[in-house]
Amino acid sequence: QRIAATLIPGDGIGPEITASVVAVLDALGAPFAWEEHVAGMAGIAAKGDPLPGATLDSIARTKLALKGPLTTPVGGGFKSINVTLRQKFSLYANLRPARTILPGGRFEDIDIVLVRENLEGFYAAMEHYMPIGDDPKAIAMSAGFNSRAECRRICEYAFEYARKNGRKKVTLVHKANILKALTGIFLEEGREVARKYAGEIECNDRIVDACAMQLVLDPWQYDVIVTTNLFGDILSDLIAGLVGGLGMAPGANIGPEAAIFEAVHGSAPDIAGKGIANPLALMMAAGLMLRHVGRHDLADRLTAAIDKTVRVDAVRTGDLGGRANTEGLTKALIGNLA
Ligand code: NAI
Ligand code: MG
Repeated sequence: QRIAATLIPGDGIGPEITASVVAVLDALGAPFAWEEHVAGMAGIAAKGDPLPGATLDSIARTKLALKGPLTTPVGGGFKSINVTLRQKFSLYANLRPARTILPGGRFEDIDIVLVRENLEGFYAAMEHYMPIGDDPKAIAMSAGFNSRAECRRICEYAFEYARKNGRKKVTLVHKANILKALTGIFLEEGREVARKYAGEIECNDRIVDACAMQLVLDPWQYDVIVTTNLFGDILSDLIAGLVGGLGMAPGANIGPEAAIFEAVHGSAPDIAGKGIANPLALMMAAGLMLRHVGRHDLADRLTAAIDKTVRVDAVRTGDLGGRANTEGLTKALIGNLA
């Protein structure tokens, strides 16, 4: 029962951290049969295209991809590959978990999953600049939109995720006091969805600014957060910061046609090729991928190995203040797989 999956090593440190993740997944006995494809600068180098058709075809076929970071080519009019993938495959749910792994940080025992709506809100790029008279009088405007169907779909995803992953509470984050229509329908749909889970999953709601404050004062009150695109963009980085920054932050982009798992960080050109990159964010993204295909058993074993290696044995890469290189950390992780 092998599961075909697309593997995009990516640019910069991408191939190094991808090799590490694949080695650990192999040692774990993960069921993925990889189809390796290029994108980003590697796509331009190999096929003259940052997102070659063969790569898209593979994702369309497997519906499942693990993607290393891609360097966004500067100039040349390339559209962000990540945005293109999101739109092409209707990847409407952006999953951003944040869990404390490193001891001695500012916040212990944080375990929050943020679900961000990925296709609507203020990311529709309906922007306009109006040069009226003298430049100081010019106006810039941006239109945002949310559809009821999409608000319902993202909230259903969040509640279903909570149910499947044994989580107890979903917080709807909005600004319905000011953006009464735009985020009011999100709150309405969210409350409607919550009714179906009454008695099983608790539901509350928070205004986004109050939520940002509470996330810093008392983050432990949060379990699953679901919110619209722009608020989710900001809050997902906030919760990554609570647990040690982007080096530890995995992400997933999920839709009915495909699911793409990745690290939140970029291709880190400053350390590429040195063998010192931290593979843990992509490793945790692979953990999300295992859960996505229902292999919670393997994801739990992977999580336990990461915790033992980083927390107990203190094998850490330089970005986390340690002295291990990518290979050393990979070996330690494999040695800690129970
Ligand atoms: P970056 O995340 O690549 O690097 C920021 C800093 O964090 C650098 O000092 C880097 O060495 C360090 N860092 C990042 N990941 C690390 C890891 N796994 N281990 C150790 N250190 C790590 O962000 P930057 O420099 O702004 O972007 C570089 C390139 O990556 C750009 O072309 C950007 O467009 C692209 N990018 C791609 C993303 C994606 O494909 N999802 C996301 C963010 C940026
Ligand atoms: Mg962001």
